[in-house]
Amino acid sequence: MLTLAEAAPAPARMAPRPAPELSVVVPCYNERANVGPLVARLGAALAGIAWEVIFVDDSSPDGTAAEVLRLGALDSRVRCIRRIGRRGLSSAVIEGALASSAQYVAVMDGDLQHDETRLPAMLAPLRAGTADLAVGSRHAEGGDAAGLGPAWRHRASELGIGVAQLFLPVRLSDPMSGFFALPRPLFERLAPRLTGAGFKILLDIVLAAGKGLRVVEIPFVFRPRVAGESKLDVLVIVQFAALLLDKLSGGLLPLRFIAFACVGAFGILVNLAVLGLLTKLGGLGFDLSQGLATLVAMLANFELNNRLTYRDQRLRGQRLWQGRVLFILVCGIGAVANVGIAGMLYQSHTNWSLAGAAGAAIGVVWNYAVSATLVWRAR
Ligand code: GDD
Ligand code: MN
Repeated sequence: MLTLAEAAPAPARMAPRPAPELSVVVPCYNERANVGPLVARLGAALAGIAWEVIFVDDSSPDGTAAEVLRLGALDSRVRCIRRIGRRGLSSAVIEGALASSAQYVAVMDGDLQHDETRLPAMLAPLRAGTADLAVGSRHAEGGDAAGLGPAWRHRASELGIGVAQLFLPVRLSDPMSGFFALPRPLFERLAPRLTGAGFKILLDIVLAAGKGLRVVEIPFVFRPRVAGESKLDVLVIVQFAALLLDKLSGGLLPLRFIAFACVGAFGILVNLAVLGLLTKLGGLGFDLSQGLATLVAMLANFELNNRLTYRDQRLRGQRLWQGRVLFILVCGIGAVANVGIAGMLYQSHTNWSLAGAAGAAIGVVWNYAVSATLVWRAR
């Protein structure tokens, strides 16, 4: 029996197929049940437009990637980028968009909460050259955020919008939207300046573009989630706060450094608490108690940094133990440097608090720089 490929006349097989006009980039994590229906809906909504969909999956345990690949085998417009050992909505979107050769890139969630029937309306002003960015807005006239869920999500969202509004270079009624479209070359220009952390990819894009970006808002109704569950949690909100700090400091303090320093400050509290407890229990002597308390604080810091600061490159399994040991070594040297420099400054008649602060600052910068390259080195 002849296969389909053999049956096709040779010229048709060999003819180049140009990239579609529109790539829809869909970050997804545990969305197995949603990808099939989404592809079907895109097909209906984008009739008459040459499109493709690029799912970016972080090796979801529910087998989302396998489902996407199954669909891709039936329809080459369905593409899959599967990342290993990585997590994060924003970075997934960036990688998906950079894998596109289309003229326009749209970004939407993979859980059917975004209204795909609005995509042609988002594409129109881009095609006409009247806007650089089309944003699906839940808060513009005619939009609705009803599907957001519990009341706290509405309040958190409103608070975030209010804060973001304060320093946005352009007016946006829904800067937290995960539903937007822009010309691919523009995205490519901005990509090196995106932080890639957390959920707020749109905010990141708008901040990177600065003034002069022509934005158009397309209202849409945010649907409630039917299958699967939301991945937005407290950590995502903390990352959002860190993104704001990063931008407000003009990139002077990288996001990771801020997180690392906060974890370090928390470690001091852990150290003091354990030291207090051991002293109260008595019997160990000060030096041993302080040594143990420092070790506990370092271990706690490692866990927090691994889950928070380096959430997207979290060490697991055997690498977790290697990481722990390395981290303690690195921080041990940092502590020696801290005490040494503070002591030197103090001896040369620097005020004790200034000497202490300088020692601590050198310690945290050392710990950060060295653990970033040795413990959580990018793979
Ligand atoms: N690849 C990848 N990796 N995808 C992810 C990850 C991740 O770590 N985390 C979430 N996603 C995918 C989800 O599978 C979904 O397709 C999309 O990103 C949005 O995630 P949800 O977990 O459904 O977010 P939400 O509905 O609670 O949040 C929505 O509202 C926020 C503002 O209130 C989204 O539209 C956000 O983009 C938006 O910022
Ligand atoms: Mn969702």
